Amino acid sequence: MTRQSIAVMVSGRGTNLAAILEAANKGHCPVDVRVVISNKVDAPALQIARDAGVDTILFIDPKKYPNRSSYDQACVEVIQKHACHWVVLAGYMRILSSLFVSHFEHRLINIHPALLPSFAGADGVGDALSYGVKFSGCTVHLVSEQVDEGAILAQAVVPVMNDDTVESLHQRIHQKEYELYPETLRCLVEKGFRLDGRRVIWNS
Ligand code: GAR
Repeated sequence: MTRQSIAVMVSGRGTNLAAILEAANKGHCPVDVRVVISNKVDAPALQIARDAGVDTILFIDPKKYPNRSSYDQACVEVIQKHACHWVVLAGYMRILSSLFVSHFEHRLINIHPALLPSFAGADGVGDALSYGVKFSGCTVHLVSEQVDEGAILAQAVVPVMNDDTVESLHQRIHQKEYELYPETLRCLVEKGFRLDGRRVIWNS
């Protein structure tokens, strides 16, 4: 099976990026991380990309662009130039313009630290904990124009413990994310899917 090229967009720690790089390196996930783009100059994810020898690692500074669309257009150009098939958001905490989303329709995916459609938004872990759910988890989904509303590709469940804090719950969710994200990428490359309304039907 040939590998497909991906661009990963990050804003923070980059532990999901690290999990994808490791799975690709071990041959568990047939992707080639060609490009890493960060909107934050000090994102630790940038160092993870450097350590892994990713070819193109860029901090693209939002302050240098007059609006969201022009920033996103610069990102589109980089991703196109490097012929990346998939665009993978891994802790990318910036809202995307419709220009970007429509450009990569059905090739743009995100991971969210809750079981969507519950607890969308910037604090999925904290919102689930304060609501009092007994199970939470993570969701890999296609990105659509509405935040965290795209069709669901895969989910994994984790229990919520009595003594959980946001940090301990997020840590448990992260462990699941490190399995789910590379595994979903593998399915995208090896199987493909079709959409039946909002339902993702994986090819067998
Ligand atoms: C992950 O838990 C991811 O699900 C979450 O940010 C974290 C990034 O961690 N994403 C969102 O909340 C998106 N709404 P990482 O930088 O260590 O991969």
